Formats: sequence, C-alpha cells, structure tokens
Amino acid sequence: MLSDSSPVVDVTKRIALIPGDGIGPEVIRVAEQVLTSVVRSRQLPLTWTAFDWGAEKYLRERVTLPADAIEMLRRDFDAILIGALGDPRIPSNQHALDILLGIRFGLDLYVNLRPVKLLDAKLCPLKSVTEKEVDFVVFRENTEGAYAGVGGNFKRGTPDEVAVQEDVNTRKGVERILVYAFEYAVSRGRRKMCMSDKSNAMPYGHGLWQRTFADVRKRFPQIEAQHLYADTLAMEIVRNPSQFEVIVTCNLFGDLLSDLAAGLLGGLGAAPSANLNPGYISMFEPVHGSAPGIAGKNVANPMAAILTTGMMLEYLGYRDEGARVEKVAADAVHASVMTPDFGGTFGTREVGEWICDRL
Ligand code: NAD
Ligand code: IPM
Ligand code: MN
Repeated sequence: MLSDSSPVVDVTKRIALIPGDGIGPEVIRVAEQVLTSVVRSRQLPLTWTAFDWGAEKYLRERVTLPADAIEMLRRDFDAILIGALGDPRIPSNQHALDILLGIRFGLDLYVNLRPVKLLDAKLCPLKSVTEKEVDFVVFRENTEGAYAGVGGNFKRGTPDEVAVQEDVNTRKGVERILVYAFEYAVSRGRRKMCMSDKSNAMPYGHGLWQRTFADVRKRFPQIEAQHLYADTLAMEIVRNPSQFEVIVTCNLFGDLLSDLAAGLLGGLGAAPSANLNPGYISMFEPVHGSAPGIAGKNVANPMAAILTTGMMLEYLGYRDEGARVEKVAADAVHASVMTPDFGGTFGTREVGEWICDRL
C-alpha cells in the first residue's frame, strides 16, 4: 500500500508525434489510430502530443526545428514518432535536414536500426523466396560519416566552384555502433555479423572501421563475423539475402543499403526503422520519404509506419504489444488487405481500419 511518504512514480510514457510532409500525415494518422487501439485494448499508460514541424511551418514562419526543441523533447518525452520530411517547394531540403538530422544528432541517436523482414513471400520480387529467407537487420551509424555536415562551398556559383563534403569517422562513433550491433546479435540469438565499408577506396576513414571491427569482434567470439565491401554487399543482398542476419555499416551506405533491402520486402511501404540512443529518448520513423507524387490520394502504404509504431511500443517496454502489431500487420498482407504499391486495392485508411479492428 502507498503511504504518504512513498514517492509517486509516473509510469506514463510520452510520445511526440511529428507527421511532417507529403504522405507523412496520412501514415502517421493511421499509426496514431493503431496506438489508440492498443492503448484502449491493453490499458497502456501512453500519451502523445503532435508537433507541426515541417514544410508548411517553414514556408509560413521560416522556422525549421524550434530553438528549444531538443531540450524540450529530452525533458518532456520518451519517444518520437515521425512521418517524413521533404517538399518540392523547398529544393534545398533545409527544413528536413534541420528537423530530421537535427533530432538524430541533437539527441545523439547513434543507432539506426532498420529491420528487413519479409511479411509475405508474395511481396518479394525474387523468385521462390520464403519469408524465412529474408530476415535480417541493417545497423546504420547515425551521427557522423558523410552526414556530419562538415564542408563548404568555395567560389560558389562560379566556374571555379569547389565543394567539399567531409566524411567524418571517429573511433568512439564507429566503436559504439559496432558494439551495439554485436550486442543486439547476441541478445536476439543471431549468429552472423557482416560489417561493410569501402576501406579499399577510402583507407583513412574506413580503415578506422576495419581496425575498430578487428578489435570489437574479438569481444564477441560466439558471433561469426565477416566483412564485405559495400558494393559487393549490395550485390549479395539481391543475389542471396538469406545469408545475412546482422549488417552494420556507415551512415551513407546504411541509407542506400536499407532502401535496396526494402526492395526485397515489396518496397519502401514495408520498411520501418528506429533511431536509438539506447536507454534514452529515441525516434521512430518509416524508412520512406514524403512521396509527394502520391500524397493526399489515400494510396500511401501505412505498413511501414505501423511496423515502426510496433518497434516504438517494444522500445517503450511493451514487447508483447509491439509483436502483436507486427503480427496483425502481417495478417493484413496475408489477407491481401494492401495498398496499390503491394499490388492491392485498399486505401491507406482502409488498411489502417482493418488492422485497428483486429487490434
Ligand atoms: P520516397 O521514399 O518519398 O519515395 C520513393 C518512391 O517510393 C516513390 O515512388 C514513392 O511514391 C514510393 N513510396 C514511398 N513511400 C511509400 C509508401 N508509404 N507507400 C507507397 N509508395 C511509397 O523518396 P524520394 O522520392 O526519393 O523522396 C521524396 C522526399 O522525401 C524528398 O524530399 C526526400 O528528401 C524525402 N525523404 C525523407 C525521408 C524522411 O523523412 N525520413 C526519407 C527519405 C526521403
Ligand atoms: C532516410 C532519409 C534521410 C537520410 C534524408 C531525408 C536526409 O533518406 O532517413 O533514410 O538520408 O538519412
Ligand atoms: Mn533514406
């Protein structure tokens, strides 16, 4: 029984929703309905608040990521669920860089976890591939590399222009993503690790990956570790995806390889992701972008956003509920309750309703 002197522990987990641009609001609306269904049926102490950060706000107020946003998120929230950012009216992509990379870097979300799990064999463009054969995760370093924002333009706009975009790799940054990937493999019963870089062409930056990998793998003798250059890895992912369990790579290659791998799942509409600072506030987003060409038409696939919501629930401590969301999402595909990108005839909202009814 609680006595007067017992501290009152608030177990409520708070989520910041950032619908963003293009199809972002459409898929986040479905994700929010999924959250509502899970919260109602399981009585979970979860609350959420929406933020209007994105292209409209930027065009209206010239504000991208508000000045106090990082501090506020860290203080008031446990997780962030974001749709997508990117708008053809903003060709510089400045607002997306400020918000998306601003949060990744500002909250030090150094792990970008992108599961590549086939929901149904009929979605895979490879012939005779079963669900079990496409089930791996890509760990993308998420706070440095070519995304560090170090560089500049000299003599901009002249015929003598020089553009420099540095690839920044730190021992600490490389080591922590490698260690996390190995620890994940151990905790999930995965046996195989593939580290990928281009140390043959980029001996300074990716030489550091090689040397750090050589050290870290010794700490995990139970894991069968290999290395592939990123070009070869891209080919092998398509040729025989079943050979992979855990892939770990740098920021830029992780971006490319995770879209490539999403192709095996039926497209970007199927690919969820988590940006983690393990143990602290973390951000969850579908791998896809704002898809301006299909925005506002009720055809965007909400599956990536729904699976992303499942990952967030798991991260917040609701493992069973996260697994349940993933299971019902797969059931929708088995029942061909799918949007046109998956070859279905259902709309964004209708797929969402089918899934929420069953949750
Ligand atoms: P995109 O992911 O938006 O679209 C690529 C292709 O996949 C398009 O044909 C699109 O219609 C399709 N697609 C994507 N998501 C889909 C979904 N849920 N359902 C059905 N089809 C889907 O990538 P892009 O076209 O290269 O970029 C568009 C904008 O999004 C750009 O501004 C880009 O910078 C931005 N972007 C943002 C994020 C993010 O916020 N996390 C990620 C990637 C791209
Ligand atoms: C992603 C996106 C972003 C990235 C863009 C929009 C900056 O492609 O999340 O995969 O390159 O990281
Ligand atoms: Mn990407």
